[in-house]
Amino acid sequence: MPRNPTVAFELRRFAEAELRERARLVFDEMDRRRSVRSFSADPVPREVIEDAIRAASTAPSGAHRQPWTFVLVGDPEVKRRIRIAAEDEERENYAGGRLPPEWREALAPLGTDWRKPFLETAPWIVVVFEQRYGWNGDGTRRHNYYVKESVGIACGLFIATLHRLGLATLTHTPSPMAFLSDLLGRPRNERPFIVFPVGYPADDCRVPELVRKPLDEVMIEVRAGDLSHNGDNRP
Ligand SMILES: Cc1cc2nc3c(=O)[nH]c(=O)nc-3n(C[C@H](O)[C@H](O)[C@H](O)COP(=O)(O)O)c2cc1C
Repeated sequence: MPRNPTVAFELRRFAEAELRERARLVFDEMDRRRSVRSFSADPVPREVIEDAIRAASTAPSGAHRQPWTFVLVGDPEVKRRIRIAAEDEERENYAGGRLPPEWREALAPLGTDWRKPFLETAPWIVVVFEQRYGWNGDGTRRHNYYVKESVGIACGLFIATLHRLGLATLTHTPSPMAFLSDLLGRPRNERPFIVFPVGYPADDCRVPELVRKPLDEVMIEVRAGDLSHNGDNRP
């Protein structure tokens, strides 16, 4: 493969005081994001969702394969079918005893159950599929690289974009999700990754009170002086 030509790249550079201020503001804004399970039926223009998907699709990806498909659903009948099939799976998980006790205990504080009315209420559902492999021009399989990492990052950008637009979503994984491939007519190289209902929160929307880990629980700094000389650094 020939190497790509290069293009000049520049980023706006902020003076330090502004940089610090912006960092605070970005954190404050991201810290207000919450997963929403109660949506308003108010419409959201399709073009807005398309731009959010464009933004998500700017994500970095292994070997720039962009191994994702964002399936957009606004048709009430298709939303209804997704809800019915998702609730069938989730009923089995919650009421049928398919969830292992440890998982059930982890979910208890969130108050979730098998009912997923938001899959019909939200004006849009975006189902993201990972492309496990692609196709060459001659019909042979084309390998994709770091598919889960790439699609996960694209989904993160999608969530952040929606939040910046004042739109709510839920990272929903009605497990197992295989029913979505058939229901949405996706090819065999694609596997369902995450279901995102998208819209405005309901007027009476409430979310579980959560505390996020403080910085010192999610970040450590490593300096050479902290490391042993014989390379044996694991606890
Ligand atoms: C990969 C993944 C799968 C999730 N699946 C579900 C789900 O199926 N149903 C649900 O109600 N929440 C689901 N969540 C949302 C989490 O419960 C939520 O992100 C977490 O409780 C933190 O809340 P917050 O998003 O409001 O910060 C999922 C989150 C992730 C990252």
